[in-house]
Amino acid sequence: MLEKLSKWKSSLSSQEIKDELDQANIPKHIAIIMDGNGRWAKNKGLPRIAGHREGMKVVNKVVQKANDLGVEVLTLYAFSTENWKRPKTEVDYLMKLPERFLNNELPKLMEENVKVRLMGSIEELPEHTKKAVLKAVRETENNTGLILNFALNYGSRFELMNAIKKIAKQVEMGTLTPEELNESILEKNMMTAELRDPDLLIRTSGEIRLSNFMLWQVAYSEFWFTDVLWPDFNEKHLTEAIAVYQKRARRYGGV
Ligand code: FPP
Repeated sequence: MLEKLSKWKSSLSSQEIKDELDQANIPKHIAIIMDGNGRWAKNKGLPRIAGHREGMKVVNKVVQKANDLGVEVLTLYAFSTENWKRPKTEVDYLMKLPERFLNNELPKLMEENVKVRLMGSIEELPEHTKKAVLKAVRETENNTGLILNFALNYGSRFELMNAIKKIAKQVEMGTLTPEELNESILEKNMMTAELRDPDLLIRTSGEIRLSNFMLWQVAYSEFWFTDVLWPDFNEKHLTEAIAVYQKRARRYGGV
């Protein structure tokens, strides 16, 4: 049924799909695992980094669209704690992308009231990457529109371990007892503190897995997977994902 809906939606234009959307039920937080850059490049006989470059252009379009639609938070998985295992040339290139993106787009992000936020071990990033992303965070900190949350050097297990260590220290210091510990305290110690959980999780490229992404936070998110490779993803796919999301009945374990 959902597949049918998805196929039917694919035949509609972007504007038609947007018109179909229930403006009162736009997912407030969308998280995206942007996958398939390497395969996109390979299919075209290009080096993998060409796929990442094209992927960066898509980030731009998706941010605009999410902002237009009134999404409150857009989290993008740009680099995982496991991505360091890639060849150095590829890692070096990936580390240039946030900087390149922000150098080009920061004025527009300011104009559009977008607030840049980070999630991940930023300390371990190369100095030039860290400098660019922290500058964007600083310059956009008073913006009140879409929160653009870049997951950079992010891994969910690391995040959970880190939160647990912080809490263990509080218990050790006597400022918290194990009995007082609850979900809300754990959440405050995570990298998403003050962000709502994703309503919709999108993964491109046909892979059906989470890859250490927001394991705690997606407990009740709706998932939408597509075979489309990230560099081919566009505004129409985003609106299609939202249209499918709007047909889902979210019950949170109830009836
Ligand atoms: C996964 O595709 C993608 C990444 C590890 C990098 C994602 C980065 C971007 C889309 C650009 C980031 C842009 C900004 C602004 C930070 P893959 O390389 O694993 O693809 P494959 O599975 O086909 O090999």
